[in-house]
Amino acid sequence: MKPILVTAALPYANGPVHIGHLAGCFIPADVFVRYLRLKGEDVKFVCGSDEHGVPITLKARKEGLSPQEIVDRYHEIMKKSFADFGISFDIYSRTSAKEHHRTAAGFFKTLYDKGAFTEQSTEQYYDEEAGQFLADRYIEGTCPKCGNENAYGDQCENCGTSLSPSELINPRSKLSGATPVLRKTKHWFLPLNDYAPWLKEWILVQHKNDWKPNVYGQCKSWLEGGDGLQPRAMTRDLDWGVKVPLPDTEGKVLYVWFDAPIGYISATRELLPTNWEHYWKNPESRLIHFIGKDNIVFHCIIFPAILKAHGGYVLPENVPANEFLNLEGEKISTSRNWAVWLHEYLQEFPGKEDVLRYVLIATAPETKDNDFTWKDFQARNNNELVAILGNFINRTLVLTKNYFEGAVPSAAAVNNDDKKVLAYADEACDSISRSLDRYRQREALASMMDVARAGNKYLADNEPWKLIKTDVERTAAILNTALELSARLAHLMQPFLPNTANKLYYMLQTTSVGWDFKSETPLLNPGHILGEVNLLFDKIEDDAIIEQVEKLKTAAAMNEEISKIENSENGIDPAKPETTFDEFMKMDIRTGTILEAERVPKTDKLLKLTIDTGLDKRTVVSGIAEYYNPEDILGKQVTILVNLQPRKIKGIESQGMILMAEDTDGKLCFVSPVDAMGNGSVVR
Ligand code: 2FM
Ligand code: ZN
Repeated sequence: MKPILVTAALPYANGPVHIGHLAGCFIPADVFVRYLRLKGEDVKFVCGSDEHGVPITLKARKEGLSPQEIVDRYHEIMKKSFADFGISFDIYSRTSAKEHHRTAAGFFKTLYDKGAFTEQSTEQYYDEEAGQFLADRYIEGTCPKCGNENAYGDQCENCGTSLSPSELINPRSKLSGATPVLRKTKHWFLPLNDYAPWLKEWILVQHKNDWKPNVYGQCKSWLEGGDGLQPRAMTRDLDWGVKVPLPDTEGKVLYVWFDAPIGYISATRELLPTNWEHYWKNPESRLIHFIGKDNIVFHCIIFPAILKAHGGYVLPENVPANEFLNLEGEKISTSRNWAVWLHEYLQEFPGKEDVLRYVLIATAPETKDNDFTWKDFQARNNNELVAILGNFINRTLVLTKNYFEGAVPSAAAVNNDDKKVLAYADEACDSISRSLDRYRQREALASMMDVARAGNKYLADNEPWKLIKTDVERTAAILNTALELSARLAHLMQPFLPNTANKLYYMLQTTSVGWDFKSETPLLNPGHILGEVNLLFDKIEDDAIIEQVEKLKTAAAMNEEISKIENSENGIDPAKPETTFDEFMKMDIRTGTILEAERVPKTDKLLKLTIDTGLDKRTVVSGIAEYYNPEDILGKQVTILVNLQPRKIKGIESQGMILMAEDTDGKLCFVSPVDAMGNGSVVR
């Protein structure tokens, strides 16, 4: 049996895990590994936090903490949410671990001793105000390929192109905003150009047919495009990272993309101190990297070149990269707080881990970018998991309970039609295997759901609820078949919906039989007593979805406000761009009086107000509960924007907005007429 090592890209420890991470590599890797384990393969699944590089030091700077404090905080949060969610790593390590520093420094030293690097003094951008060289993400500018004005010094996130700072148009320092100057510094370069002929043969010829088209295409344009591959610096002038293991190199560390992939090796060593070479140095071993598309060049070109330069290690057999997942039509962004955070999801949707897994597999950005929307999440839960899969299982188990006292009925009257539906499930097992082997998980999931659809059709065609009145023996055969099909569904859903599979096994009072089982043998014997019947999934109501969308918008808006204040001189918001009188006159602002006020249950900030606007009496939800008690504001005159589109907040329709002044500490205060005015007076 060939050893298999599966890796998922080490996430930067600069923020919690969000659905983009999950869809990009963690869920695909987890589905794949669960499938391999069921097949009894010799597989290990390794990952950990990427704790070096500029994303970490920038975050530390922003928060006024040390890089170590930042990585300690986020490593724990990420590790916990992966565990709570059920990503089944064999180890989740971290690159600040001693073992990793030793391994990465050792790799560098070996390459150095072999003469694999070229030493070069080059001009690099330097921020004179901050007194620092500007590597990678310390520098931003316009992408020469797509024109994105916020491309990083190492990469443009808009078009995925990997860059070097010198390629940026109009570079600016992330530290001070200043235009950087060029200054000489010495670094060690890996001459990637020397590896180009070998990489072309290995990727473009040998992996022409088994690597995904998006991965192959990106590699091809790297290897054949423009000036071809260029030497790349493997060290940086930074004080956070793995120290360069050479004399007189104070202030220099390994490039994060040199050390991070070596993190896969360190994690395996930590997991299997005496047996790690079985996965890394055995020529038979299969190495598979699950990543997002922005990591393709590092895993397909740079890391393999490092491994090749070192010698003795296996190269990846495949690098199944996904494209990006967007959220409600916009790019997911940690810094903009435009994300669905895993730890929050787990709190807000307890017990619904598999719903998120299902939706993220069904909409996985396997071939192109895709969009997650809360409406689609709800629809897939209600119309697919509840109405198709849950419905088939529930009907089968409830009918068995009602007609046969919850025991598997006799198969004596089973006919060829019944056998056909089971044969269909067995064929599905083969086609799911084929899809999973080719990293087509959406297709595999759809095949599993087709079995549930076939189950519903089978029940609808055979109508056991009618037949029970005339033919108990046939009814027994039909429910026996439907139960066999349920056990097969439990089997087929294991890689995708592991928690649901366990629930179903528990209801069926049976256990997993691995992946490749003999289909002629029944999975449930007549007379076998089934367990208690529970719903596998329940409906998600509109309110929960509206709340999530509102939360997302509020969080992003708050974040924007915070960054505006952070970026302003004295905490006072900078002036907004000019507007026109006509634009302003579109706002219908009136004076009004607060008639009623009460707290919105289960919230800290919201009051529900009834306002007499002179035009009507209407309900407005306002975020002022931290500053005003409901009883103190009755009869107060306020100003209200009356023609704002109504929106639901916590299930209450808010019909307008009370105008508030907000100071630099975020304290809110009504903007009221100084003299008493009639309600409905126009403010302009
Ligand atoms: O893009 C990222 O989030 C990187 N931290 C991925 C590193 S993958 C591997 F090389 F460690
Ligand atoms: Zn670009």
